[in-house]
Amino acid sequence: MQLLPGSARTLMLSLSALLLLLCCATEAHNITSILAKNPEFSTFNHYLTVTHLANEINLRETITVCAVDNPGMSDLLAKGLSIYAIKNVLSLHILLDYFGAKKLHQITNGTALAATMYQATGSAPGSSGFVNITDLKGGKVGFGAGGNDGDLTATFVKSVEEIPYNISVIQISKILPSEEAEAPTPGPSEQNLTALMSAHGCKVFADTLVASDAQKTYEDNLEGGLTVFCPMDDVFKSFLPKYKNLTADGKLSLLLYHGIPVYQSLSLLKSSNGVMNTLATDGAKKYDFTVQNDGEVVTLKTKIVTARITGTLLDEQPLGIFTIDKVLLPKELFKAEAPAPAPAPAPEADAPTTKKSSPPAPVSPAEAPNEDPADQTADDNGSVRYNGGRFVALLLSSSLGLLVLVKIGISSYFNFY
Ligand SMILES: *[C@@H]1O[C@H](CO)[C@@H](O)[C@H](O)[C@H]1NC(C)=O
Ligand SMILES: *[C@@H]1O[C@H](CO)[C@@H](O)[C@H](O)[C@H]1NC(C)=O
Ligand SMILES: *[C@@H]1O[C@H](CO)[C@@H](O)[C@H](O)[C@H]1NC(C)=O
Ligand SMILES: *[C@@H]1O[C@H](CO)[C@@H](O)[C@H](O)[C@H]1NC(C)=O
Ligand SMILES: *[C@@H]1O[C@H](CO)[C@@H](O)[C@H](O)[C@H]1NC(C)=O
Ligand SMILES: *[C@@H]1O[C@H](CO)[C@@H](O)[C@H](O)[C@H]1NC(C)=O
Ligand SMILES: *[C@@H]1O[C@H](CO)[C@@H](O)[C@H](O)[C@H]1NC(C)=O
Repeated sequence: MQLLPGSARTLMLSLSALLLLLCCATEAHNITSILAKNPEFSTFNHYLTVTHLANEINLRETITVCAVDNPGMSDLLAKGLSIYAIKNVLSLHILLDYFGAKKLHQITNGTALAATMYQATGSAPGSSGFVNITDLKGGKVGFGAGGNDGDLTATFVKSVEEIPYNISVIQISKILPSEEAEAPTPGPSEQNLTALMSAHGCKVFADTLVASDAQKTYEDNLEGGLTVFCPMDDVFKSFLPKYKNLTADGKLSLLLYHGIPVYQSLSLLKSSNGVMNTLATDGAKKYDFTVQNDGEVVTLKTKIVTARITGTLLDEQPLGIFTIDKVLLPKELFKAEAPAPAPAPAPEADAPTTKKSSPPAPVSPAEAPNEDPADQTADDNGSVRYNGGRFVALLLSSSLGLLVLVKIGISSYFNFY
């Protein structure tokens, strides 16, 4: 290890971070494949997929799915509910905590109210978004919908799969009846876009939208298909000074730049990379950005920033709303400020340069790789290019790092299991 140059070591650090991401992305649970092993839950499984609840379950850690078998689902389907009401009913069967069989039988004080994914939608009135779990005599465990006056309609049948403490899939005897969850629900295109965003961490963006003509354009596109990328509150808040600096046209364009006039599900975004026109696009190659996925991570690249999709607020034909970790800055309105992201740490920081005359501070090799200044050229606009020789060196050191990593990976794999 000590023979490796500093840059290789930093590279290894970032590579191991990458490997960690890769490892855990693949290790995340997949409710569809868990249930697929049990044909008795095929209807329940099908409706988790159709309602997109499967995606939401997979994105969460620490979750319990209360499945019912096919006859139990038939009773629900016989009620002729809309798919949106079915979604509410099923989301009442997804508990936002981990309940393995053991924990179910050892609930403190013998009874508990568990918050569900229905509660998390924010549309569950009163206590209807909770499930009452109560230990009964004879080792039975009863389940009841929160709004149902403690009527414990269903009982625990068996544990289907437990991955402590990530996901527990259990079977309960029947669907929990709930007037509230079964009530007619507006479809996605009847949703109040800005209210939805406000309630889920994008209030600043939503408020800005409401105060602008952009809101109408968004609403006009709702019916025909719309995908919105909303920057999270802390991100958009710190961007506000720059936003206020834009002209009226610039403000409008920036807001419209965060919507695309088609519905793109998250899985579609993961699989279809390429240039997207936005609501702001008013000509060829204007106000567009590039969607690019890296495994499960979807990024949106403008010429100025690369934002990452961090969450799903709604993903249901014809409307997708996803949160992002950066404001999308179109090249039409912003100039690249910082040096272009290079495949190595920014050289300005601590690396010795010929310009600085101050004595070099002691730097750790990880922070300041042994860069050869001759290999870099800074443009007038401050961006840094790497020449061919450096690229080859980088390639070499990265493959070296990868080799070592693979070795470490293999040995730690066997230590773990
Ligand atoms: C989950 O598993 C199903 C079937 O096994 C598969 O079709 C789907 O792509 C998987 N989802 C993810 C997110 O890997
Ligand atoms: C259990 O019951 C005791 C006594 O009634 C109470 O103080 C405590 O808060 C309860 N614990 C929970 C988790 O409800
Ligand atoms: C759950 O329902 C049971 C039975 O109706 C009731 O006794 C218990 O108080 C309820 N539990 C909670 C936490 O509300
Ligand atoms: C639980 O999920 C976390 C994060 O996704 C992962 O790191 C961990 O390995 C998982 N645990 C198991 C037992 O799968
Ligand atoms: C949407 O909700 C906002 C509050 O967040 C409200 O001001 C607005 O009138 C609502 N729009 C519609 C069409 O209901
Ligand atoms: C706003 O514009 C002025 C003049 O162009 C500039 O000096 C200032 O730095 C800008 N402020 C922000 C926050 O971008
Ligand atoms: C900025 O960098 C680009 C790419 O290296 C170069 O083509 C362009 O001339 C530079 N712009 C200015 C203003 O120097």
